Amino acid sequence: MPSEMAATPRADRSLDGRVAIVTGAGQGLGAAEARALAAAGARLVLNDLPTDGLDRIVEEIRAAGGEAVARPGDVADWATGEALVTTAVDTFGGLHVLVNNAGVLRDRMVFSMSEQEWDTVIRVHLRGHFVTTRFATAYWRGLSKSEGRPAYARIVNTSSEAYLLGSAGQPNYAAAKGGIVALTLATARGCFNHGVRANAICPRARTAMTGDLMGPAPGGDDPMAPERVAPLVVHLAGPAGDRITGEVFVVHGGVVALLGPPTVRATFHATTGQWTAAELDAALSTVFIDSPPTSGYLCEATLPLATSTFNE
Ligand SMILES: NC(=O)c1ccc[n+]([C@@H]2O[C@H](COP(=O)([O-])OP(=O)(O)OC[C@H]3O[C@@H](n4cnc5c(N)ncnc54)[C@H](O)[C@@H]3O)[C@@H](O)[C@H]2O)c1
Repeated sequence: MPSEMAATPRADRSLDGRVAIVTGAGQGLGAAEARALAAAGARLVLNDLPTDGLDRIVEEIRAAGGEAVARPGDVADWATGEALVTTAVDTFGGLHVLVNNAGVLRDRMVFSMSEQEWDTVIRVHLRGHFVTTRFATAYWRGLSKSEGRPAYARIVNTSSEAYLLGSAGQPNYAAAKGGIVALTLATARGCFNHGVRANAICPRARTAMTGDLMGPAPGGDDPMAPERVAPLVVHLAGPAGDRITGEVFVVHGGVVALLGPPTVRATFHATTGQWTAAELDAALSTVFIDSPPTSGYLCEATLPLATSTFNE
């Protein structure tokens, strides 16, 4: 075999025969993830609000030889979640992968936030992840019971470093993204025996959501392009994803970071089994000494992983 042929990498077709749902696929990360899943062979049911963007991505994937159908609708609506799973089964004969990605921002400090700004963000992100997960896992549970073996079932949820960092101007968003991690863990535990592997990503990418903050892309290859996030989603959706569940990844540029679980930092025991105010003060004072508080539970370890998030 000529050496140049041997050096040509084989196209990744790890998702041949698989069917995937991607929410919020009309632009940004969802569109990049849909393109990458299609390139790996997946047949797609794509969701977004009824926008031209959704139809454009479907057409683009079909023009490239892939298979995709649009199922527009508000992802937090019960009927949308049900319709996405039904469409996958009716159109392509099954469902193997659910990528929960749709999202919105309504940024405001907690003391100024309106009821609607809170509800909208919690609804689209947290309820939007739950509703699709509810119908997809019910389908996989039924399948694994009827076939007597675990289903091929992958969920990739979209959290955010805003949760890890307690983003001060985004209390609604940080809370929703923390909730999504908890939902991911509960889904991973609750549905493991039915074959479900559920993980969450905390991506960083230059999109409509972050463009104002990050600024315009630098010339050449943008390290913050959404396409840099998509390979991890394909990996988690693929055969190798069978070994991975209940995990949280930070992903951007050329970096994938696997987070560890929160740890117990210090433990205190009341000498009589019942705390007195004085004893509790003495115990906690060994950690919280007489100085200003630190950043506490925040996880800032992911910040230095990117050298060029903001195009300053
Ligand atoms: N871009 C980043 O750096 C970054 C960082 C952390 C997390 N995220 C998360 O990644 C996901 C994608 O974000 P993005 O940066 O591509 O943003 P984006 O605004 O480009 O895309 C979000 C998509 O979700 C769709 N959407 C919004 N509400 C919807 C609803 N109710 N039903 C269906 N679709 C809906 C939008 O129409 C849009 O197409 C979001 O969950 C976001 O919170 C992004």
